[in-house]
Amino acid sequence: MRNPLFDAIYFNNNGYTPIWLMRQAGRYLPEYRQLRAKAGSFLSLCKNVELATAVTLQPLQRFSLDAAIMFSDILVVPEAMGLELDFIANEGPVFKQRITNLNDVVKLDNSQIEVKLDYVFQLIKSCKQQLKPNIPLIGFSGSPFTLACYMLEGRSSKDYLEVKRWVYSNSMALEQLLLKLSDAIITYLKKQVDAGVDALMLFDSWGGVLTPSAYQEYSLKYINKIVSALKQYTLGKNLPLIVFTKGGSNWLQQIAQIQPDVIGLDWTIDIGVARKIITNKIALQGNLDPMILAVGDRASLKREAMQIIDNYKLANNGDISGLVFNLGHGININTKPDNVAYLVDFIHEYSKQ
Ligand code: CP3
Repeated sequence: MRNPLFDAIYFNNNGYTPIWLMRQAGRYLPEYRQLRAKAGSFLSLCKNVELATAVTLQPLQRFSLDAAIMFSDILVVPEAMGLELDFIANEGPVFKQRITNLNDVVKLDNSQIEVKLDYVFQLIKSCKQQLKPNIPLIGFSGSPFTLACYMLEGRSSKDYLEVKRWVYSNSMALEQLLLKLSDAIITYLKKQVDAGVDALMLFDSWGGVLTPSAYQEYSLKYINKIVSALKQYTLGKNLPLIVFTKGGSNWLQQIAQIQPDVIGLDWTIDIGVARKIITNKIALQGNLDPMILAVGDRASLKREAMQIIDNYKLANNGDISGLVFNLGHGININTKPDNVAYLVDFIHEYSKQ
């Protein structure tokens, strides 16, 4: 059966551009809010295989999306390593204790990841049973650096003071933390493969706060370690690896050097320019400003969506292959579901021409 996502990623032009949306399951959907209330808390929702499966499938029941992404969070990995996690309304994730020194790093427990995160692997199996065979399931993890950011700050941050303190005055300990996280993530992603995911994505949501050299040293180096390990593990299987650094548009050549199958783009770069920079056969995923779905009118939504397809095609010799339509970041809570429906159908129709 045809799989439009894989066709695009492997540069087979099957006639239209596939689309899925980062954070396509979530609070902008009333049916999500209902199951979230039933579960009691966000983490209990993630850990309840039946409800998390339902939430994963919700956006696919409403929209003609070309992929599903398992419903979980990047922060379940540090939680499994022993950091108690809470999701606080209007604030987001908060760790009870943050990592403050090398001793805290040493105490982190990266053993038995496959046991502690078993609920994720059960979720994958459950989703695969219910998804149509032509809809691939995407598994994911945060990048080591992005997870380290949350563990060092204890929560989302505005100035990244603690992260920068470790980068600029405690880099040996930071490296220990990143190594430990990389090991845990490699185990975690291999287990996701065993459980049946069809593709994997690394979210490097905070890599963009670094300088070019610090990005290489503290983020991309460890992403490379993970991509290499997973490539070897999935040798001979077509299992695409997607790497997304938010704020990473200036470093596309370096990201391309580690040869992921797909590079995710935020909305700050013209996708045609990105296509010209990335000369090897790496697919591009992105890069609509998610706010258009929340506060844009139909005319601007249509215009911006057309521009992505047109600019990509122009830079790619008139061919849409190698393009996966997505947002430049996760969907915003104020998104109107009608706008998503319009966008998904519009991308399918418009890219056919
Ligand atoms: O894409 C999907 O549909 C799958 C689900 C998914 C969630 N988080 C669910 C979620 C994915 C892929 C993530 C990844 C994630 N989580 C990232 C990387 C992508 C990015 O946004 O940069 C990050 C940085 C996190 C950490 C995180 N989790 C934050 C900062 C927050 C709070 C902000 C917010 O939007 O509320 C969360 C909570 C979270 N993760 C929610 C959802 C649906 C909302 C929680 C709720 O229902 O109350």
